[in-house]
Amino acid sequence: MKIAFVLACVAVLTVAGVCQAGNLRKNFYRTSCPAAERIVKNITETRVASNPNLPAKLLRMHFHDCFVRGCDGSVLINSTANSTAERDAIPNLSLTGFDVIDEIKTELENRCAGKVSCADILALATRDAVSVQFNKSIWEVLTGRRDGNVSLASEVLAHIPSPFLNFSSLVQSFKSKGLTVHDLVVLSGAHTIGVGHCNLFSNRLYNFSGKGDQDPSLNSTYAAFLKTKCQSLSDRTTTVEMDPGSSQNFDASYFVILQQQKGLFQSDAALLTDKKSKKIVGELLELTDFLKEFSQSMKRMGAIGVLTGNSGEIRKKCGVINS
Ligand code: HEM
Ligand SMILES: *[C@@H]1O[C@H](CO)[C@@H](O)[C@H](O)[C@H]1NC(C)=O
Ligand SMILES: *[C@@H]1O[C@H](CO)[C@@H](O)[C@H](O)[C@H]1NC(C)=O
Ligand SMILES: *[C@@H]1O[C@H](CO)[C@@H](O)[C@H](O)[C@H]1NC(C)=O
Ligand SMILES: *[C@@H]1O[C@H](CO)[C@@H](O)[C@H](O)[C@H]1NC(C)=O
Ligand SMILES: *[C@@H]1O[C@H](CO)[C@@H](O)[C@H](O)[C@H]1NC(C)=O
Ligand SMILES: *[C@@H]1O[C@H](CO)[C@@H](O)[C@H](O)[C@H]1NC(C)=O
Ligand SMILES: *[C@@H]1O[C@H](CO)[C@@H](O)[C@H](O)[C@H]1NC(C)=O
Ligand SMILES: *[C@@H]1O[C@H](CO)[C@@H](O)[C@H](O)[C@H]1NC(C)=O
Ligand SMILES: *[C@@H]1O[C@H](CO)[C@@H](O)[C@H](O)[C@H]1NC(C)=O
Repeated sequence: MKIAFVLACVAVLTVAGVCQAGNLRKNFYRTSCPAAERIVKNITETRVASNPNLPAKLLRMHFHDCFVRGCDGSVLINSTANSTAERDAIPNLSLTGFDVIDEIKTELENRCAGKVSCADILALATRDAVSVQFNKSIWEVLTGRRDGNVSLASEVLAHIPSPFLNFSSLVQSFKSKGLTVHDLVVLSGAHTIGVGHCNLFSNRLYNFSGKGDQDPSLNSTYAAFLKTKCQSLSDRTTTVEMDPGSSQNFDASYFVILQQQKGLFQSDAALLTDKKSKKIVGELLELTDFLKEFSQSMKRMGAIGVLTGNSGEIRKKCGVINS
């Protein structure tokens, strides 16, 4: 067990430059704040009831958090006079849902001050939000993450994969976080919920290779539909559902439409350009199979570069590092 951990550690250390993932555990707050997970769930469920887009918002925020400096809550930190934080990064990442995390944090500070990290709140709230439609937790969240004290907009571009990446660049991005091709395909299934802005794919509709052309790998029926939504290359405000017709439903339909060449971004379509990856897509068409794999990949994503033990801090407010 110990040896396995050390070996895993060496592997993670080499790849991601961090080595604490193994220290997360089940119900870390059992004695220090027994109500923590119940409170996160309660507030999250209440907020999802009035905002069905919240699961998508939190899922993307958690992904972003984990890919920049590890899952350390750095995505939640506000910019200061001296420093532009991740959440204000350009390109506009349109992250929202910070208020929900803040509300949970306020309640937890009232109950058990200085115990529950913002990074864990985000990981738990994401799970609970996505799980609402199933009325049961669809993946396990280990806890014990601590909060980082650095958040830099300038680091976002290098770590958050762009929707214009090809397959090998996507693989490289995930590999640099200790994630595999299998994780890449499975986690891309998160695009079964939520929306994307026109300017992140309209090159595929109007000027794919600089000749006023369309991306030949995009379903032409779907392209015609998308053109009615995104009427020009300069539209940066309109959003479209990534999984049309079921964008609030966490299901396997992302993979079904992907096979019909209806992946919205080039990064989605790229998953069909590699033999191994394409095969994995074909194995995820059923909800039970997808959920089983998704729960495992989310556990791995949720452990990227975590701070545990005496590293980091427990922020008092998720938007501000302790001084
Ligand atoms: C594989 C590489 C990925 C790329 C290139 C990518 C790219 C994007 C882009 C460009 C958007 C649209 C943002 C906007 O227009 O506002 C988006 C949305 C989203 N992404 Fe990804 N993503 C990737 C992986 C992931 C992963 C691993 C997750 C979570 C596990 C995730 C979850 C989401 C969700 C839920 C949304 C919808 C957000 C909303 O509705 O506001 N993505 N992604
Ligand atoms: C959350 O807790 C409040 C107060 O204890 C309770 O009235 C409410 O029903 C709970 N909501 C959910 C969604 O569990
Ligand atoms: C900003 O930088 C100035 C000068 O380096 C320093 O005095 C000040 O405390 C910093 N403020 C914050 C909020 O970090
Ligand atoms: C980010 O997007 C929002 C909503 O589309 C818009 O209101 C805001 O001005 C944009 N910010 C930047 C810096 O582009
Ligand atoms: C959800 O699950 C809980 C306990 O697991 C159960 O008490 C409740 O009736 C379920 N609600 C629905 C709508 O299925
Ligand atoms: C952040 O934490 C590290 C390690 O605990 C510490 O050395 C550093 O001074 C802190 N930085 C800020 C800006 O508080
Ligand atoms: C993928 O993109 C990278 C970076 O733009 C490029 O160097 C590489 O040649 C591309 N790979 C393929 C197979 O097109
Ligand atoms: C299409 O791309 C080409 C090459 O990048 C560019 O010269 C042209 O202006 C673009 N067309 C439009 C309508 O933006
Ligand atoms: C493109 O979409 C149409 C209509 O939804 C579908 O019938 C067709 O099979 C799709 N084409 C491909 C290549 O999958
Ligand atoms: C962070 O910034 C947001 C938006 O400007 C603001 O609503 C929030 O109160 C700030 N949080 C803290 C802890 O200062």
